[in-house]
Amino acid sequence: MDRIRIVGGNELHGVIPISGAKNAALPLMIASLLTDDTLTLENVPHLADVEQLIRILGNHGADISVNGRRERQGESYARTVHFTSRNIVSTTAPYELVSKMRASFWVIGPLLAREGRARVSLPGGCAIGTRPVDLFIEGLTALGASIEIDGGYVNATAPAGGLIGGRYTFPKVSVGATHVLMMAATLANGTTVLGNAAREPEVVDLAKCLNAMGAKISGQGTSTITIEGVRSLSGARHRVLPDRIETGTYAMAVAMAGGDVILEDTEASLLDTALEAIRRAGAEISDTNNGIRIVRNGAGIRPVDIVTDPFPGFPTDLQAQFMGLMTRSSGVSHITETIFENRFMHVQELARLGAKISLSGQTAKVEGVSRLKGAPVMATDLRASVSLVIAGLAAEGETMVSRVYNLDRGFERLEEKLTRCGAHVERVSD
Ligand code: UD1
Repeated sequence: MDRIRIVGGNELHGVIPISGAKNAALPLMIASLLTDDTLTLENVPHLADVEQLIRILGNHGADISVNGRRERQGESYARTVHFTSRNIVSTTAPYELVSKMRASFWVIGPLLAREGRARVSLPGGCAIGTRPVDLFIEGLTALGASIEIDGGYVNATAPAGGLIGGRYTFPKVSVGATHVLMMAATLANGTTVLGNAAREPEVVDLAKCLNAMGAKISGQGTSTITIEGVRSLSGARHRVLPDRIETGTYAMAVAMAGGDVILEDTEASLLDTALEAIRRAGAEISDTNNGIRIVRNGAGIRPVDIVTDPFPGFPTDLQAQFMGLMTRSSGVSHITETIFENRFMHVQELARLGAKISLSGQTAKVEGVSRLKGAPVMATDLRASVSLVIAGLAAEGETMVSRVYNLDRGFERLEEKLTRCGAHVERVSD
């Protein structure tokens, strides 16, 4: 199994190209099941989760072709992928496939809307909490679906004439349930109004693509989304938006290691709250014509308190990385997680590098230390794993991160992107 070896101490200087967003690519790919025409997605990142979803969509009958194009020598593959689901050959998403990636549960929306039925395995628990599916079930029921849970599967059936537009207000903001209800409602009879909807940029990106396919969605990016159902959707061509989590992660890596880096092909407006926190920690951040420049020279890292929140708040997916940065601050910071109940597994691993962190409920108190020391650590989940890389960049000596498959789920060519900026990071295959 691969591991990542980091020798800390080097500053970062150069350019890092930002990939297309994993969390936008996944729902966009799933939206291709809504039409018998071809959906072409550009800027699709090359990640384990994307490959897994390609297998899942294939199981439903999607014909998928990939045009790999080397955009810049050795740096990043932005792929254009064509999805054609002429016929849906199976409305069942089996446990073996869904259990590997929670987002694959989202096929329930398009399958139900297009075929009138879906049988999708419950995703099961995951490392960062219980992550139930009650909001999906309530929301689809509001569109007229009958749903029963049997033998670990959600069996959903639409009324004879198809789903019916309805009103549903989420009791809690859910990105995934917003994606699914928006997709399902595109083909419903009548108008659907979703209240307290997620406002994440990936929801806006999905709505934009669905509208290009002929859907009638308005209000995306606000907490009320209105979807007027249409008879059918057509194909379209859409470019996946930049990955704001990858952007924030590298910005924090530069803030940690020091240096001067341009993050290319991204947009600061996708992560204002996180960039503001990094600025307060002492880095200078400015816009370039195609991205963001981040500089930290000399000055130490200042302690900053953060609380995770749905967009436009501080993203939970950057919480672990920010904690990594705060381990070296010159004081005490508090990091509060409000989205997932068990998203502090990185604390123990950061402690192995010498970080001083104590937990009280959903808040971590981080007392900055003047030095971290490299050690063997384990990647526990996707975002936690990259916080260890960030800490490793500033640790003395060697940090060896195992269980790298967690990293490969969401970060394209991480070691290559960091190495090109002067970091000492390499993949070791046993
Ligand atoms: C998405 C992102 C993930 C990010 C998360 C929150 C993708 C592929 N994943 O995950 O990276 O961390 O948003 O920004 O886009 N909940 C319920 N019942 C439900 C659904 C969710 O209680 O039916 C809860 C969850 O347990 C969690 C909270 O709602 O506590 C938010 O989860 P949600 O926004 O749905 O996360 P995902 O869409 O799974």
